[in-house]
Amino acid sequence: MTKLDQIRAAEARLLLSTYDRSPVLFVGGHGVHIFDENGTKYLDLLSGIGVNALGYNHPAITKTIAEQSQKLIHTSNLFYHEGQAELALRLTERSGLDRAFFANTGTEAWEAALKLARAHAGVLRSEGKTIGTKFLALEQSFHGRTFGAMSTTYKDKYREPFAPVVPGVEFVKLNDLADLRAKFSNEVCAILVEAIQGEGGIRPLTQEFFAEARALASSTGALLIVDEIQAGMGRTGKWFAYQHYGIQPDVTTLAKPIAGGIPLGAVLCTEEVARSFHPGMHGTTFGGGPLACSVAIAVIDTIEKDGLLANATAVGDYFQQQLRSLAKRHEAIVDVRGNGLMVAAELDSAELGKLTVAEMLKRHILINCTSDTVLRFPPPFILERAHVDTAIKALDEIFSEYAAGQGATASAGGHQRG
Ligand SMILES: Cc1ncc(COP(=O)(O)O)c(C=O)c1O
Repeated sequence: MTKLDQIRAAEARLLLSTYDRSPVLFVGGHGVHIFDENGTKYLDLLSGIGVNALGYNHPAITKTIAEQSQKLIHTSNLFYHEGQAELALRLTERSGLDRAFFANTGTEAWEAALKLARAHAGVLRSEGKTIGTKFLALEQSFHGRTFGAMSTTYKDKYREPFAPVVPGVEFVKLNDLADLRAKFSNEVCAILVEAIQGEGGIRPLTQEFFAEARALASSTGALLIVDEIQAGMGRTGKWFAYQHYGIQPDVTTLAKPIAGGIPLGAVLCTEEVARSFHPGMHGTTFGGGPLACSVAIAVIDTIEKDGLLANATAVGDYFQQQLRSLAKRHEAIVDVRGNGLMVAAELDSAELGKLTVAEMLKRHILINCTSDTVLRFPPPFILERAHVDTAIKALDEIFSEYAAGQGATASAGGHQRG
């Protein structure tokens, strides 16, 4: 029995069944590569689902963890430590927002944002304004797995098993101005969007829709809350994806790459919104601890020092361009989209999506398929063109073999994919 087999058997016996893991046991990594227990090297275009911004074993991170862990790992939020204000300064300077709260994960940051919206509407009501408690979220949105986040997440599969979910959420069709206008009223306390939907299939908001959401929210005092948990911190070539639109939210959330793999989430907001929280209204034992904050500071400084925003733009554009050339040779690719290193290729079947992920794994390349048919590539920000070429070559082979197999099936009298 291999070590992987032993672990699989133990997990099958001991863990709650939440993930259908790929049969590979990772033990180390360096740069954009991750190594399995046999020393086999994989090119990682998934980066732990958009987390390992600086890749693996980056000296800025390992050095900071080593040094900080010998000083102070945890204090609780009852006392001061050196990290939170320093990190908040970096995030507020880059986001154009004024204040921060730190959590541990994306979903927790999102919960804090939802609570801010309800509390803010309460403050406005106490000042005599007419504003309700409803949230407008978007179809295909994904905001996390805790109750509030799940309730504002679109797909039934995430919500239905846990019904009843948090009431007061209505979903608007993505980029549908008429639907947004029809559903918006002064009952709404916040409009919730991802500037580019991640799990929903790398789908960007249109400029018109985003601008209308901003205008509607401003017209009543409702908040525009932008979830940057997947797109933020430089993945799209700007610190925040909303900056591509020139639209400023009232609240934004961050997590995934912010501390390069150490769990950390953040909610950032305007001074106006911040006045709705007071001591005791919200909190966390672990959130914003000294270790996570020090690593996040190191990650931000490295992104800046190493020009990784520009790299995300350049290599991301190259990636999309190469996928577009591939699409000319393979009808199975029906769309290529993205921004910076948030890249996707939509396929014409879920079967091919699943097969492509498995075949890429056999070729030692990690990718993921979301929304059934969308190949998603959220690689580390240190990705180079040569890595893109390796991936494109492998995809080319896989699609060619698949098409040949389909042709053979058709000529043998089987079905051809429509
Ligand atoms: C846009 C977005 N929001 C929220 C989340 C939830 O983050 P976490 O898994 O850290 O709770 C995710 C995770 O995929 C996400 O992509």
